[in-house]
Amino acid sequence: MKIKNPDTIVIHSGDEYNTTGAIVPPVWQSVNYKAKDLLTMAKISVEDRPLGFYARYATPTLKQLSQVCAELEKTEDSVVFGSGMAAISSAIAYTLKSGDHIVAQSTLYATTIKYLRDVLPQFGVSVSFVDQTDNKAFEKAIRKNTRLIYIETPSNPLMKITDLEFIGKLCRKRKIISLIDNTFASPINQNPADFGIDVMLHSATKYLGGHSDVLAGVVCGSKDFVHKCWDYGHVVGHVLAPNDASLLLRSIKTLPMRVKKQNESALLIAQYLEEHKKVKKVYHPGLISHLQYGLAASQMRGFGGCFSFELDCAYPKAVKFVEALKLCKLAVSLGGVETVVTLPAAQWKPFYNKEQLAATGISESLIRLAVGIENPEDIIRDLESAFRKI
Ligand SMILES: Cc1ncc(COP(=O)(O)O)c(C=O)c1O
Repeated sequence: MKIKNPDTIVIHSGDEYNTTGAIVPPVWQSVNYKAKDLLTMAKISVEDRPLGFYARYATPTLKQLSQVCAELEKTEDSVVFGSGMAAISSAIAYTLKSGDHIVAQSTLYATTIKYLRDVLPQFGVSVSFVDQTDNKAFEKAIRKNTRLIYIETPSNPLMKITDLEFIGKLCRKRKIISLIDNTFASPINQNPADFGIDVMLHSATKYLGGHSDVLAGVVCGSKDFVHKCWDYGHVVGHVLAPNDASLLLRSIKTLPMRVKKQNESALLIAQYLEEHKKVKKVYHPGLISHLQYGLAASQMRGFGGCFSFELDCAYPKAVKFVEALKLCKLAVSLGGVETVVTLPAAQWKPFYNKEQLAATGISESLIRLAVGIENPEDIIRDLESAFRKI
C-alpha cells in the first residue's frame, strides 16, 4: 500500500528495513558484516548503498530514514548525511566541474554562502548572487555555463520568499538543475517538488531531528541524482553515525505534530508582537503585513516556527531584551522543541562594518525567534516580562 499522508509516512515508511520484528529498530552499531563468500563480498562492494557490507556505505537505519525523507519530499529517493552542510556541499560538489557557474540568491545560510563564495572558486567554479525576490534577476544572471540555481525560502532571518514555480519553470526551460535548502519550511509546510524544483536539501539538525541533539543532513531528488550524490558523499566520508541515525529515526516520527504546533504558536506570538508598542516590525510570512504574504500562502501549507522582529530601540536595549528572556534561551539553531532566541547583528558585527551590516537589511535591533512546542502563552509572558525591562 502506497502511503501518502506525512503523519503515517513518518511512522511506517521504510519498515521493511527493520527485519528484526522489534517495534523500535535496533541501533546497527556494527561497522562491518560477515560475507557469505568472497564473490558475494566483491559484488556487494560496487552496489548502491549495499546492506550487510560496511557502515560508511549504508545501514538499515539510514535506508529507512532515506525512504521516509524521500516520501515526505515526494521524490524518488534521498540520502542522509552527517550534517546539513555535508548534504549541501555534497549535492553541489558532485554536480559541478571546473568552469561551471551557479546562480544563487544572496540571502542564504551563512556557511552555505561561505562555501559558495570562498570554497568553490578555488575549484574553478564561479557564483553570481541575486536578490531572491526579483525573478528577472535570476534569469538575467544565467550564463552559458550555468549548471545550477540555488535557493532557500523562507530565508534567514528576514523570512523573504523565493518564487518556487518561477524557478522550477526557468530551470526546466534552460536545462539547469534547481536546488533548494528547505530546512526553514520543512516538508510538512512546503514541498518544492510540487513546483518543479529538482533537489531538496535539509539540515536535519533542525525540524527533522527537532530535539537539538543530532547533527544530520538530507538530499532528496531523483534516483540518479541521489545515487551520484551518495557516491560522492561516501567517498568523502560524510556519514551519519549509527546512534545519531537511530535518534533521528526516533525523532522524525513526531515531525508533523511538532511542526503543526510550531506553526500555530509562532503565528500567535507574531500577532502579539505586531500589536506591541515596543516593536517596530514583524517579519513572518503568515502575517498579511508581510510583503510577500500572497506568494508565501500560494506555496506553503504552514509558515514555520521561525520568524524575526525589530524592536523600536537601539542596539544596547536590544541586547538587554534578549538577555532578560528566561524561557526563550539565547542560542543559535532552530526547529527544536525549545524556543531559542538570537540577535543576528551581534553575531555578524565581528565580520561586517556598519555599512555592510546595513546592506544585509538586518537592523541592530532585529531579534530572531525560533519557537518550540511550549504553551505559547508562557512564551508571550516571558517576552512581556523582558519588554518591561527595556
Ligand atoms: C537553513 C540552514 N541550512 C543549513 C544549515 C547547516 O546545517 P548543519 O548545521 O546541520 O550542518 C543550517 C544551520 O543552521 C541552516 O540554518
